[in-house]
Amino acid sequence: MNNSSSEDELKPKTWGGFWDIFGEVLVDLLDIPEGQRVLDIGTGGGSVLYPLSKKIGAPGRVIGVETCDHCVRKTNAEIKRCKIGNSVVHSMDAREADFEDHSFDCVTAGFIGWDDYFDFQTLEYKKPDELMGAICRLLKPKGTFGMSTWLLQEDLDWMYGFLSAQSIECKRNYHVENEKGWKKILSIAGFQNIHGYTRQASFTYDTLYFWWKEMMDYNWPVTGINSDVITESIKAAAFESLQGRLTETGGIPFRRDALFVIAIRQA
Ligand SMILES: C[S@@+](CC[C@H](N)C(=O)[O-])C[C@H]1O[C@@H](n2cnc3c(N)ncnc32)[C@H](O)[C@@H]1O
Repeated sequence: MNNSSSEDELKPKTWGGFWDIFGEVLVDLLDIPEGQRVLDIGTGGGSVLYPLSKKIGAPGRVIGVETCDHCVRKTNAEIKRCKIGNSVVHSMDAREADFEDHSFDCVTAGFIGWDDYFDFQTLEYKKPDELMGAICRLLKPKGTFGMSTWLLQEDLDWMYGFLSAQSIECKRNYHVENEKGWKKILSIAGFQNIHGYTRQASFTYDTLYFWWKEMMDYNWPVTGINSDVITESIKAAAFESLQGRLTETGGIPFRRDALFVIAIRQA
């Protein structure tokens, strides 16, 4: 029996999970009307782009830019399959984005990471911020900027703690940014009405295997690669340690917290 409805068939496939939850949050927080022209930096699996395309409707346009060619191909294929006529993704580094100056009403940047440029502990720049420079060039005066970043990723923290306890020297794999730093970045760049919002979400991975596969997308060991260092017996020990956390149906719930900052470019 085929249970899928035509609505499901036209629902774009994304990276799912937390990406979709927080993509929706970012777009909900944007106070933008239908018909706007929006740039989505780092579209990835489209978890921000798809809700944006709904929000700005048929008279609007969402243009994604993404440096990962595989993501660009996949997301454009979903856009086509789902007949989303107002959106497209380009293979392009946002820092070199080839669009006219001040040609976007809104720019979004979901989980791009700014800590290459900015030290969120000292609240000082480490180097010139080419990405914010590009955003300021592309955004219209009074245009809206919206971004998201991680504050906590319980599942990555768990892996880090577990692997460290197994004497594997590993990376923490995410860098925590903060609202204070973001307010400074945006005020230096000439934004006003800068507002931060923190949101928490819990997501249950259907199975430990599915969660483990996601975790293995991150390269954990400081030396070597996952497949050499993280052996089957380490995986079995991880599954054993997590037994007490499983839901009745064998799912594994984790929590993540994210920061969202929305700001308006000076007139
Ligand atoms: C963590 S993913 C987030 C995807 C999506 N924004 C979301 O919130 O679900 C970040 C994406 O940004 C892309 N990216 C990072 N820097 C970029 C840049 N300068 N220009 C375009 N894409 C970039 C990466 O390739 C990656 O796919």
